[in-house]
Amino acid sequence: TKNPEGSMTRVAQYGSKFMSEAKTRKLEKKKEEERNKRLEEKIRMNGDPLNQITRPTENEIKKSAYEEWQRQSKNQSYGIRSNMSIKEQRESLPVYQKRDELLRLVQQNDFLIVVGETGSGKTTQITQYLAEEGYSSKGVIACTQPRRVAATSVAKRVAQEVGCKVGEEVGYTIRFEDCTSNKTIIKYMTDGMLQREALVDPDLMKYSVIMLDEAHERTIATDVLFALLREAVIRRKGGLKLIVTSATLDSQKFSRYFENCPVFHIEGRTFPVKIFYTKEPELDYIQSSIETVIDVHTNNPPGDILVFLTGKEEIDTCCETLVEKMSLLRAEKPHVSELIVLPIYSSLPSEMQSRIFEPTPSGKRKVVLATNIAETSVTIDGIYYVIDPGYVKVNAYDPKLGMDSLIVQPISRAQADQRSGRAGRTGPGICYRLYTKNAYLNEMPANTVPEIQRQNLSYTILMLKAMGIDDVLGFNFMDRPKEQLILTALEELYILDALDENGVLTEFGKRMAFFPMEPLLSKTLIQSIEFKCSDEVITVIAMLSVPDIFYRPKEKRDEADRIKAKFHDYNGDHLTLLNVYNKWSDADNPRLWCQNNFIHEKSMRRAREVRRQLLKIFDNLDKRERQAESSVISCRGNWDLIRKAFVSGFFKNSAKRAATHDPDEGSYRTLVENTPVHIHPSSSLFRKHGVDYVIYHTLVLTNKEYMHCITKIDPKWLLMYAPRFFKTADSSQLSTKKKTEKLQPLFNRNDPKENWRLSKGRR
Ligand code: CDP
Ligand code: MG
Repeated sequence: TKNPEGSMTRVAQYGSKFMSEAKTRKLEKKKEEERNKRLEEKIRMNGDPLNQITRPTENEIKKSAYEEWQRQSKNQSYGIRSNMSIKEQRESLPVYQKRDELLRLVQQNDFLIVVGETGSGKTTQITQYLAEEGYSSKGVIACTQPRRVAATSVAKRVAQEVGCKVGEEVGYTIRFEDCTSNKTIIKYMTDGMLQREALVDPDLMKYSVIMLDEAHERTIATDVLFALLREAVIRRKGGLKLIVTSATLDSQKFSRYFENCPVFHIEGRTFPVKIFYTKEPELDYIQSSIETVIDVHTNNPPGDILVFLTGKEEIDTCCETLVEKMSLLRAEKPHVSELIVLPIYSSLPSEMQSRIFEPTPSGKRKVVLATNIAETSVTIDGIYYVIDPGYVKVNAYDPKLGMDSLIVQPISRAQADQRSGRAGRTGPGICYRLYTKNAYLNEMPANTVPEIQRQNLSYTILMLKAMGIDDVLGFNFMDRPKEQLILTALEELYILDALDENGVLTEFGKRMAFFPMEPLLSKTLIQSIEFKCSDEVITVIAMLSVPDIFYRPKEKRDEADRIKAKFHDYNGDHLTLLNVYNKWSDADNPRLWCQNNFIHEKSMRRAREVRRQLLKIFDNLDKRERQAESSVISCRGNWDLIRKAFVSGFFKNSAKRAATHDPDEGSYRTLVENTPVHIHPSSSLFRKHGVDYVIYHTLVLTNKEYMHCITKIDPKWLLMYAPRFFKTADSSQLSTKKKTEKLQPLFNRNDPKENWRLSKGRR
């Protein structure tokens, strides 16, 4: 039934597009070569013109580089738009050729798997086709994304294509930010938000079609939604359709899980990508990434560069270093063209994010430094070079240690292939892998382990229990997590009082499930009402939810640290954050105040927004429980109460100063597993004396296991506020080593009897 003519014209269309691109590239290259030649000629004739004028000192260059970076990072759009009309752009996407076939399949099936290369138009187009086809008259069309950035940036793009403002016909919902209205018919949202909606309305009656996008990412929320939506679609008998889209080909498994539904392929347009490996393993991948960028920029033909790094800090430092190096280089060699340096990561303000999608001005080159978000969730046009150091930061949970930590680990081969594929979207490209071929073939795992098999599941299980799914061990996951991981989560919920001895959700647990956040945080929030300090705890938690309040520019690190120290509370970082928030909201000119105090203003405004959302949740909770008085209460300066509230949630994250304590090292041991952990140098408790017991917010493993956001506590509080977990040790029963500790975790996570007790209630 395929129309040979149709496919012919398609080839011709892409072919000619490619030809004309190749032509302009050749022309540009020729122009650049001529310019360089003229410049060299001039230098030969007259001597280097740069030697005749007074050259700026290295410091001056660095300073102007810093200013340049400031300018670049201040969201200055370079105001260039693609010369194709929106209609032309939409019609040039591979998915457009398959529009009718796709819609027919949606009409005929309740479940459909769609597989297609990144950039073929799945995310931005399919929702619009569905709306055009009339599905929006039966309900909202939703499309989930594992990442917030993807949800917001795609919503903006689609709103632009539709010709409306974001929040009107096209909107988005991410945690603590709802940009939709009753007009909204296409809604992009994080998978976590849809999971929460399923808690309130298991049949998701609002929706006519739900597209679970980026399914190959296998986030916990997407995995849970697989199971929940499968049931909802069957229950609604044709009233709800489910489309699962993925960039990889593991589609048979998906199809089997969804009642053997059809799999629809969209061929992307891809060009060959040449891959280079390093001969030896790289010791410092950041350093070599920077060198490779500069090398590509100075020696290779035009085309933008994409570099994969692991996180925000790394990306920011790399950006600064690159801008600085480029300024030095261009002062030496003025013929080197300008390099536009752009970061992209989840916590980047959305105005900044949109800049990466703007076409690069001619004669310049852009380099985008990205986290693995650019692997599949966002597509940047014009990338010809990919630099892949081969690492990714993941949140991993060790059920034996009972610890969550962010670790940087090698990527999988599937990820490496996705990354290199990014170079072949606009034309034949090059990927520089900063690892050896041997590492790729023999050291990297073939596929990434789904999150559900490696992360802490307590939030997910609380959610399932709140939906009335008691038998979590028998829940129909596509890939079942290890039983130990589920048992650990049940145990954690038990010690937090969310479950009773039989694994049944308690009243307290129901209240916890009301908050869209990790159980440790929701417990802290609810306890803060008892402690009469909820107003302050809400602020601290809002501050904890925004990344990086403090700004440490490379040039002024010492000054920034000195100013930051003014906010330090000697009882710890949670209170330091409260200090910052209070001072900021009291400031007459908050913007100036932020500048003077090296604080990110955007983060502060975001914290205020999160605070507002949390207040709303408290308000809803009060209404639901018919409380006459607001449960938002201020402790009026009695800040010990705040610390106590955090102990009642975070008691598991407690640590005691190590016997061999060295204040410079800040060495501690966790109370639960006796693991060595350290005070992070950014903490207000770093190098402080007399801090015997602490609780921490997170652990981050870099060269050491570091505690982040730490607060000093009184060990008595652990006994008082976590009686299910701690007891005073019976000294006659303890080894001499243990005797020095006095506190002993009550719960033995490795005792099968205890586990049995919790799992008993499952059927
Ligand atoms: O979902 P899939 O990877 O198949 O593609 P998409 O995200 O729908 O992207 C289709 C096109 O829209 C690409 O060429 C993107 O560059 C463009 N796009 C954009 O310009 N701005 C965005 N925020 C998202 C996509
Ligand atoms: Mg997509």
